[in-house]
Amino acid sequence: MGTASIGGYAKAVEAARSDPAKFWGEIAEGIDWIKRWDTVIDDTRKPFYRWFVGGVLNTCYNCVDRHVVNGRGDQLALIYDSPLAGQQRKLTYRQLQHEVAQCAGALRAMGVDKGDRVVIYMPMVAEAVIAMLACARIGAVHSVVFGGFAAPELAKRIVDAKPKVMMSASCGLLPGKAVPYKPLLDEALEIAGVPQTPCLVLQRRELRCDMVAGRDVDWSDAVARVQPADCVPLAATDPLYVIYTSGTTGKPKGVVRDNGGHAVALRWSMEAVYGVQPGDVYWAGSDVGWVVGHSYIVYGPLLQGCTTIVYEGKPVGTPDAGAFWRVCAEHGVNAFFTAPTAFRAIKKEDPEGTLVKKYDLSKFRTLFLAGERGDPDTIEWAERILGVPVIDNWWQTELGWPAISNCMGLEHLPVHPGSPTKPVPGFDIRILDEDGNEKAAGDIGSLVIKLPMPPGTLYTLWNNEKGYEETYLSRYPGYYLSGDAGYIDAEGYGWVMSRIDDIINVAGHRLSTGQMEEVLASHPDVAEAAVVGVADVLKGQVPLGLVVLKSGVKHTDEEICKDLVARVRAQIGAVADFKSVRVVARLPKTRSGKVLRVTVRTMADGGEVKVPATIEDDTVLPEIKAALAALGYPRAG
Ligand code: COA
Ligand code: AMP
Repeated sequence: MGTASIGGYAKAVEAARSDPAKFWGEIAEGIDWIKRWDTVIDDTRKPFYRWFVGGVLNTCYNCVDRHVVNGRGDQLALIYDSPLAGQQRKLTYRQLQHEVAQCAGALRAMGVDKGDRVVIYMPMVAEAVIAMLACARIGAVHSVVFGGFAAPELAKRIVDAKPKVMMSASCGLLPGKAVPYKPLLDEALEIAGVPQTPCLVLQRRELRCDMVAGRDVDWSDAVARVQPADCVPLAATDPLYVIYTSGTTGKPKGVVRDNGGHAVALRWSMEAVYGVQPGDVYWAGSDVGWVVGHSYIVYGPLLQGCTTIVYEGKPVGTPDAGAFWRVCAEHGVNAFFTAPTAFRAIKKEDPEGTLVKKYDLSKFRTLFLAGERGDPDTIEWAERILGVPVIDNWWQTELGWPAISNCMGLEHLPVHPGSPTKPVPGFDIRILDEDGNEKAAGDIGSLVIKLPMPPGTLYTLWNNEKGYEETYLSRYPGYYLSGDAGYIDAEGYGWVMSRIDDIINVAGHRLSTGQMEEVLASHPDVAEAAVVGVADVLKGQVPLGLVVLKSGVKHTDEEICKDLVARVRAQIGAVADFKSVRVVARLPKTRSGKVLRVTVRTMADGGEVKVPATIEDDTVLPEIKAALAALGYPRAG
């Protein structure tokens, strides 16, 4: 089943809207089923919907084994390219099948069975992908945690997921250093109160780690001595993975993905959205810890029989701003997906794009950008230096695949830089006002998606259906609340402008300022704290904190600020990039006591500050202005 029978963009939108069961039922033929579904879409428990009920399949089989069966055994499935380790490794589909089956066997030997959870805390090595597929093979539910998170964050995920086994590595690699992962893993298990959880640990030659006798299992030894494990039949509705993402509190939300709907949607997105065919080389320059990594380093490309790339490096400095072009040329990349921030980093170092000319990019067809707003400057610059279409796409961890995009496999619509183009067929996007009325074209409002959402999107939060309903489905009955604000213009193009909550986006990483405020406020010297996301030329946004101290504090402001920076790093992780904080005598508030964060942010960004009529005391504003100036805000340019 291909897109050919669906026709162009408008036809596909209409087909998905008028008869979703027929539309998705046809697309589901692109997956190998052990037993076909009874019902395409089960709506008997509204507002909870389930896809392909009664269907039985195995996602790992669809990603790996079936390509071997269908003659792709000798095609490259995975290329590991690490400028940081100075290593490359290439695995054909046949070799990947062997590695995954052995790894699944090792998990089995450690007692992992269908439905058990496995938390994966790994750097960008081939084994991270193998680990995920091994879980999928035996029906274990993986939960991958990004390596840049600190031990307390990892611990929260362990507490919620209750893994039977942890999979990790001795270290990750960053420019100039190996980051020890194992001590963080040990600390997280202690914090979580489950220090005896068995760990399968990959020893990397760059930095080996101590193993806990009787608990830790050496990865290489284990996979060498076990019987391979075969794919088990799973219900389409069985969970495939849980991915935690930032919410408005310190407690991360466990987004759950199923097996059937996910496989159907992800494979189709490869052809319809990304215009990619089996045999193509598809590279997502992200990390397996993020949803982009789950969907477009692992599942999407492999479901579609492409070659995927696991890149352990940076856009700049490994060794230079030509790193991406080197990878694209060397491996014949056809489609490349990354975050705009990476391009801003390259543009800063190589504004004329001179390094592009060093490489043969003749196979490179399309660049996809997502994870944060694609600013027109970056999109136009990328188009100019690469000479290929640059396609922005909007989605979220919860959605799992693009909801607004230019669907390159259906029809290449004109690009309007700054807009990710139009809703992907299956996503019925609306813009609502406070009362739930639809906004007119061009008017900003809350971006929502009419239920049911297509397959592949979340269907619950891990062990928290009530939280799922409350967070996403209750604000506007019948709609999914995205948490983004935006508008749809008269031509039907979507424009995503900002968040309606305290989520910020730092270098494509989703973080909660509320969570950072919790860390600051827990400091013994701090009475109150406010954190806002301020504009940053490179990272899009970075967090900035203002704190009010308790009276009688013994330490200097400087000592406290240094301590606060260290605390956010230790409790949330380096990835939060929390480096700017200042002590102030008071925070600007409304008469009812609400901190005016938007006012602070606007002042820091150098925007026109409209002082709210509800402000308690506007004489505080010059003090805030001075504090921001001391931190270097607003920034020039
Ligand atoms: N393990 C441990 N620490 C990590 C880490 C990991 N896996 N990944 C990042 N960190 C650390 C970094 O070393 C840095 O620490 P520092 O403050 O000591 O320098 C901090 O977390 C912030 O990292 P990062 O956001 O990567 O910033 P950077 O300045 O090192 O690099 C970019 C900036 C733009 C080059 C980088 O963010 C990037 O390549 N982005 C690509 C887009 C992307 O991956 N998006 C994800 C979703 S698609
Ligand atoms: P995450 O869940 O980490 O993928 O982050 C999702 C959030 O990032 C969205 O809710 C948006 O706020 C933002 N985002 C992602 N992609 C885009 C895009 N193409 N345009 C605008 N915002 C985006």
